[in-house]
Amino acid sequence: MNELVNKFDHIRQEAVAALSEARDQAAVEALKVHYLGRKGVIPGLFREMGGLPPQQRPQVGQTANQCKNQVQAAVDEALARVTSGGGGGGDAAAELDVTMPGRRRRIGLKHPVSQVMDDAIDIFRRMGFVAADGPDLETEYHNFDALNTPADHPSRDVQDTFYLPDGRLLRTQTSPVQVRVMENRPPPLRIVCPGRCYRRDTPDATHAMNFHQIEGLYVDRHVSLADLKATMTLFAHELLGPRVRVRFRPHFFPFTEPSLEYDFSCIMCGGDGCRICKNSGWLEISGAGMVDPAVFHAVGYDSEQWTGYAFGMGVERIAMIRYAIGDIRLLYENDMRFLRQFN
Ligand code: PHE
Repeated sequence: MNELVNKFDHIRQEAVAALSEARDQAAVEALKVHYLGRKGVIPGLFREMGGLPPQQRPQVGQTANQCKNQVQAAVDEALARVTSGGGGGGDAAAELDVTMPGRRRRIGLKHPVSQVMDDAIDIFRRMGFVAADGPDLETEYHNFDALNTPADHPSRDVQDTFYLPDGRLLRTQTSPVQVRVMENRPPPLRIVCPGRCYRRDTPDATHAMNFHQIEGLYVDRHVSLADLKATMTLFAHELLGPRVRVRFRPHFFPFTEPSLEYDFSCIMCGGDGCRICKNSGWLEISGAGMVDPAVFHAVGYDSEQWTGYAFGMGVERIAMIRYAIGDIRLLYENDMRFLRQFN
């Protein structure tokens, strides 16, 4: 190791130590002149570098610059220390009251909506579903046309959907991800797509303009409604416990035939009726059904060969059941006193 390198290292340590102990501005200034001044120690060492063989210069030069920069930084730090603190002498130990109670550090936690979403994806993954993703900003084609939604369907109305000036929209459901996945992958497939949805609803205890859904899609040969019912029931048991019952009611969606809505029995009252389920004993989760052949045609699947089921799930609804939350708006007020309960 070059002798000059050792000298630079030694001076650097010595200067930094001396500066950290300097008590007032005059002492810091004196050290600054001693080490960094024009006739100081460090410029002196720089001059010695002139006599080095050229191949050693880069390495020594690096150490030299580090030394100079660190000592300069130590000077700045020492100056800041002795000039602040209202003349308290910079003695931190004297100002520290070790008998004060410590400050509790808050650790972040997963939002209840994220907890439900992650747990749900995990349950479906164990049943062979893979997660898929699509954009929040959708085309009318993916959100409506390809999903067999007639041009005059009320859900397309500007009263219900947020449109952009360029004709795109904020997706009103996660169902367009079904279309995007099928456009790009041949059957069979089994996917779940979690994501945000947007609707021009008037916010109340069970409606928000921005909420989350998990979409499911299973396409294969001979898929039946019985498969859908079994999957949803198993899912409910895994997520909310074996006592939950699942109820299916006939409904209509343009992109499924037959279509149904499904409810979970209220786990708060066990189905007897309470505030959370508005005395009905049931909580509506979302819609489902067998994929309409028109959707298969739109993505180029042969509807004679392939059948499938699809379902949507309101994530906030499930979170409300799981954690007995009476008003969806509580989930988005970001009040830590509320959120901290779901650790
Ligand atoms: N997309 C429908 C909704 O938001 C739910 C749904 C999904 C229905 C899949 C059928 C199949 O209401």
